[in-house]
Amino acid sequence: MYYPEHIIETIRERSDIVALISEYTTLTKKGNSYTGLCPFHNEKTPSFSVSEEKQLYYCFGCGAGGNTVTFLMQKENMTFPEAIKYLAERENIELDELALSQDEIQKNQKRQRLLNVIKEAAKFFYFSLRDTKNEEIMHYLIERNVSIEMIKQFGLGYSPSDYNILYKYLQEKGYDDDTLMESGLFLKSKKGGFIYDRFASRLIFPIFDVSKKVIAFGGRVTDGSMPKYLNSPENILFNKSYTLYGLNFAKATSSNYYILVEGYMDVIAMHQAGFTQTIASLGTAFTSSHAKLLKRYTKEVVIMYDSDSAGINATLRAIPILRNEGIKVRVLQLKSGKDPDEYLKKYGKEHLMELIKGAKADIWFEISRFELKYDLKIPEQKVMFLQEVAGRLSEIPSTIEQAIYIDEICDTYQIESSAFKAEVNNNYKKIKHIYSTKDSQAHPKGNRQAVSTEVIFLSTIYHYPHIVKQVKQYITPDMFEGDLLKDLAKEIFKAAAEHNEINMMYFTARYPESTEQNIISHIMMHKDERYEEQTILHKMVLENIKRLKGNYLGKKMNETKDAIEKQNLLFQKKALDKLYIDFING
Ligand code: CTP
Ligand code: MN
Repeated sequence: MYYPEHIIETIRERSDIVALISEYTTLTKKGNSYTGLCPFHNEKTPSFSVSEEKQLYYCFGCGAGGNTVTFLMQKENMTFPEAIKYLAERENIELDELALSQDEIQKNQKRQRLLNVIKEAAKFFYFSLRDTKNEEIMHYLIERNVSIEMIKQFGLGYSPSDYNILYKYLQEKGYDDDTLMESGLFLKSKKGGFIYDRFASRLIFPIFDVSKKVIAFGGRVTDGSMPKYLNSPENILFNKSYTLYGLNFAKATSSNYYILVEGYMDVIAMHQAGFTQTIASLGTAFTSSHAKLLKRYTKEVVIMYDSDSAGINATLRAIPILRNEGIKVRVLQLKSGKDPDEYLKKYGKEHLMELIKGAKADIWFEISRFELKYDLKIPEQKVMFLQEVAGRLSEIPSTIEQAIYIDEICDTYQIESSAFKAEVNNNYKKIKHIYSTKDSQAHPKGNRQAVSTEVIFLSTIYHYPHIVKQVKQYITPDMFEGDLLKDLAKEIFKAAAEHNEINMMYFTARYPESTEQNIISHIMMHKDERYEEQTILHKMVLENIKRLKGNYLGKKMNETKDAIEKQNLLFQKKALDKLYIDFING
């Protein structure tokens, strides 16, 4: 179900965050806000706070924060639409009564038209593969060991080589050019302006969404030409970051872990071998949106990417993304055979099953990569290696997990465990210092998100608005990273100058994602009392002005090709390094 923005706004406006959260923890009024024990982590003294006025919550201990919708998403594992529906029911808001806007109706109709075209095309491809004219493609699949069952289950097809046969076919079915072009199935030649089939002469992999509707296609050449694969471009149906190949089948399995592989053929080969919990991202890196999607279905993922260096790097990037969503990760690196598909062909499924069962936690994979950088026979290098390992271990939120790894590492690398533990703790304190402020009792547990220095800086300006006057002389909102922070900076600068509050409705509606709401609530709710002391505040502000503006000038210098401009920027950078601000006399 898809709700238009004005409905979401109405629901947020009418729902009472204090009442909602009071069902999970006891809140007591304290000044402008309510405080209580955090429902997201274990604590003995309250560090959780709820603002009725801002309709936000924030925990100083573990960093959890957001609005009513994100609260339900985090606490009850609801999806965004589920949370909206739940809140609507709670507040007795009839969703059906809030009629869809004209815009939404049109968008839904367009979506439906596109789904129809794509379904029609999928059928066309499916039958083309079975056409005896194209039997060499069928032979290619058989050659590659793809079974008839899999060809059927994954709806594999073929886009014939005649350059516009599909276009003509769909036109005859009555689809208009706008819809056809929007579907991503066709390209227009630059010169003649004639329209041709994007996937002509390619083996077709339909891409399904979780409800088993075809939303896009992947196409592979079978003759070694380039590029090997093509995918549909993104449109209102297809967003690569929200799509995982094989998920529609995987979600029906009862396995307690999923297997993440690199490509189409790997997914199919794995499903054929009985590993029906296998999925892949589509010609794109694994993103946090993928991880969020996966989190709904599983708590553990075994990464089994190709054994080449691209596969190793992709593994190292995917690990923290999955971990950040609270998904446990194990890594299986196939030592021989480039990818799972080839491995299965060579060694068979029983062998692979054993390897998957024995796959070790992500940390061991990371450590094995660190190890390659150092020569452990040289004492200084061994120290650096162990320091790097300690740094990594300190990021693990579970102390039990940490303790187990520490023991094993001390065993393997023959070091004294108390010394190593101390090193891990040192690192932990450093990290904690960046995150948290005065509350030394609160232990960050669970999936804390790293709070960037830019977020902390914005939060400081918001809570100590009198310094905005000086900040504005050096910093502009566009120096911040990403749309959300730029937008927040703009509003915070404006509100501070005009002694106004910032418009919360705008931010809840414009940035609904949990991660975004977490940042918003960090900025608005997390007042760091240390900066009550003006000298500390001034020091912090000066440092941040230097860093933010320094980065900005650096970026500009890299971008510009104009020598004079470069000179000018260099002067500015030099002046910035020496910058001193007289906060007292302005
Ligand atoms: N990919 C892509 N575009 C390319 C190459 C690859 O989108 N030009 C994506 C595809 O999703 C592909 C995945 O990256 O499935 C992995 O690529 P690769 O390992 O080269 O292909 P395989 O899936 O192993 O396919 P095959 O075994 O048929 O070579
Ligand atoms: Mn392959």
